[in-house]
This record gives sequence, structure tokens and C-alpha cells, in this order.
Amino acid sequence: MLSGKRITLIIGGGIAAYKSLDLIRQLRRAGAQVTPVLTRAGAQFVTPLSVAALAEEQVFHDLFDLKDEAEMGHIQLSRVADLIVVAPATANLMARMAAGMADDLASTLLLATDTPVLIAPAMNVRMWQHPATQRNLAQLQADGLRVVGPDVGDMACGEHGPGRMAEPAAIVAAIRDHFGPRPLTGQRVLVTSGPTHEPIDPVRYIANRSSGAQGTAIAEALRDLGAEVIFVTGPAQTPPPDGVTVMRVETAREMLAAAEGALPVAAAICAAAVADWRVTTDSTQKMKKTTQGTPKLEFSENPDILATLSTHAQRPELVVGFAAETEDVIAHATLKRTRKGCDWIVANDVSPATGIMGGQENAVNLITEAGVEDWPRLPKREVAARLADRIAQVLG
Ligand code: C5P
Repeated sequence: MLSGKRITLIIGGGIAAYKSLDLIRQLRRAGAQVTPVLTRAGAQFVTPLSVAALAEEQVFHDLFDLKDEAEMGHIQLSRVADLIVVAPATANLMARMAAGMADDLASTLLLATDTPVLIAPAMNVRMWQHPATQRNLAQLQADGLRVVGPDVGDMACGEHGPGRMAEPAAIVAAIRDHFGPRPLTGQRVLVTSGPTHEPIDPVRYIANRSSGAQGTAIAEALRDLGAEVIFVTGPAQTPPPDGVTVMRVETAREMLAAAEGALPVAAAICAAAVADWRVTTDSTQKMKKTTQGTPKLEFSENPDILATLSTHAQRPELVVGFAAETEDVIAHATLKRTRKGCDWIVANDVSPATGIMGGQENAVNLITEAGVEDWPRLPKREVAARLADRIAQVLG
């Protein structure tokens, strides 16, 4: 969604500068090109080397650097971007911007530019609440600058209140909003992801090989289209995405309760690999070896979350299930769509030879009422982006 966009990122001198490294990483992942400008104070908090390595671009920091000026002068630097982002925007930088000062590279290019500017203020709570800062903020907003944050919370200085820099995911969301309305803005969606763990006794459980990678990528793709994502995850290897509401569960029954608790939602995407069975009476004590032979485990069927949501009184407008099969993929998945009552099934072959389960790529068929679509083998992130686009076409 940000591919091809050029962003000049000015990193001011505050402790929140460390978060700007993650911001660069997230912008790069979203496809943006980042030209970093580090103020003298900013370089006290993060090194030019880390910034350059993450941005994969030269870092600009000195107004009077003859080499930089020869390659890209400060006026040109102020014009090449589609958006200038100042993060962290310190009280000092905001004051200098509001006063129209041009005494270093960052302030000079901000004064010379006709490119839109987004600032992410970060400072001590008293500095933020000071009438001078609030005056400067009002002036900057009157000048047409956009502002994201600050957040309320604990600060590095030990105080609590407004002043924390917005999280990188929120800054990326504000940047996306700048480039136009997103199709799923205002829509709430549910994504289930990862495996479930079904206890045998307090220390043992039954699990499966799902890494949670595809569900996580789908949650990220829906978030990037503006959706409010409720992400219900079993104990997955892949960490949950930023910028979504994460609900951690262990068992299928907990997953069902969390999923039903998330209703109403416009769409439910059930990407979790839910255990079909659980041990009927899981032992409250650790099972011991005995002389009477091996234990016999008795199983009960788990609730089917996808089928439950598909027939729910608060049924989402769109319900999407997954079918991980090892043979007759399309035939099994087509039957599954009608049996479970969902709208779409994303079917894939998870035979070990495909390397899909736990891997980086996926080759899927999308099964809808209209028929079967063959999608090429793609990175899981791209499968997710395509699926999210299709979901947006239905809900948008
Ligand atoms: O029947 P099977 O497990 O192959 O179905 C897969 C689909 O059903 C997936 O979308 C999965 O998330 C969902 N499912 C579920 N609850 C279960 C079993 C599967 O939501 N108990």
C-alpha cells in the first residue's frame, strides 16, 4: 500500500528515537522508500549506521556537508519526498518549526518544503502540557501539518501522562491515511490463527504444526487496509502483529469463547488450525508410569468455531475458512464449504513435500460459490494481501 512512496524521515533528539528504527523497518516492509535525516541531537540517541542500515539509504545530517550538498542539496532533499515525517518531534524541534527557524538541515528543509508534513511529538508530560508547546502545536496545525499522538502512558523519565511518541504501527497507519482513505476503515474483523493446545495433564498437551504465519499475515493485511482487527491466537511461533487487538488462547473451547465474544464483526477469517478433538477428562495431576501398561486416552470432539460462526445469530457478513489437506484438496475443500456453511474456503495442500506448513510460501485455491480459483505459489504475505483485497471488495 505504500509501495513507490518516498518518505523523508526526520529523527529528532529524544529517547523515542529508538522507536524510529522500528518505524523505518515497518515503512520498508510496507514498500516505502525512506530517506533518513538525523538531527545532531537525534544522533545522540541512535547511530547513523543503524538508521542507514535499516533504511538502506544514506543518512543526511549536516547542512554544511559539501559531499551531501553536492549529491543532494537541502532544497532538493525537501522536495523529493511524497511526505515528510518528523518522529520523534521534540519540543525544541516543534518550537523551531513553529517559529520558521532554519538553523540546521532538518529545520531548513522543513522551511523550504512544499511537501505535506506529519509530526509525531514525543516529550516529557510537563513539556507537552506547557502553554508554549501547546501554542506551537496550534500554530503548526494552523500551518497545515498533521499530527499523530502523543500517547498517554509511562515515560522514560518516570512520569505518566501524555507525551509518549505514538507507536510505529500507529504512525504507519497515519501515513497510510495521508495517502487516501483505506477500504476497510471503520470495519471490525476477526481473525483466528495458530494451533490450539489441548491438555492431557498439567504438563502435556496435544498440538499441531501450525506456525500462525498465514493468519498473522492476514491480520496485518486487513489492518493495513484500515480494518480494526481482533486477532484470536493459539500458542503460535509467529509473534502477533502490531496494531491489532490480540486475544491469546490455548484450547479450542477458549478460542470459540474469544471468537464469539468478538462479535459482531463484518468478517471472520478462521485461519487457526484448531484441534478436532480434546482429551475428555484431562488429568489434574501429572500422569505417572504404572505397571498396568500404557494409558488410554479418550477423546471428545471440539466445538467447530468456523461452523458455529457460520450459523450464528450474529453471523458476520463474510465467513472465510481454511482447508489444509494432504489429498484431493479441491474436492475435500468444496465439500467443507457447504458442510461448514461458510462463504469461502482457502484450500491448500499441506503434504510435507510442499513445505507449506511452517514455511514462508503458500499455494492456495480460493473456493467460493462461483467456483474454484487457482492462485500461484506466493509468499504468505502476498496471499494475505490478495485475500484482504478480495475481502475489501465484498465489505468495502
Ligand atoms: O475441518 P477442518 O479442521 O479441516 O476445517 C478447517 C477450517 O475450520 C479452518 O478454517 C479452521 O480454522 C476451522 N475449524 C474451526 N474449529 C474447529 C476445527 C476447524 O474453526 N474445531
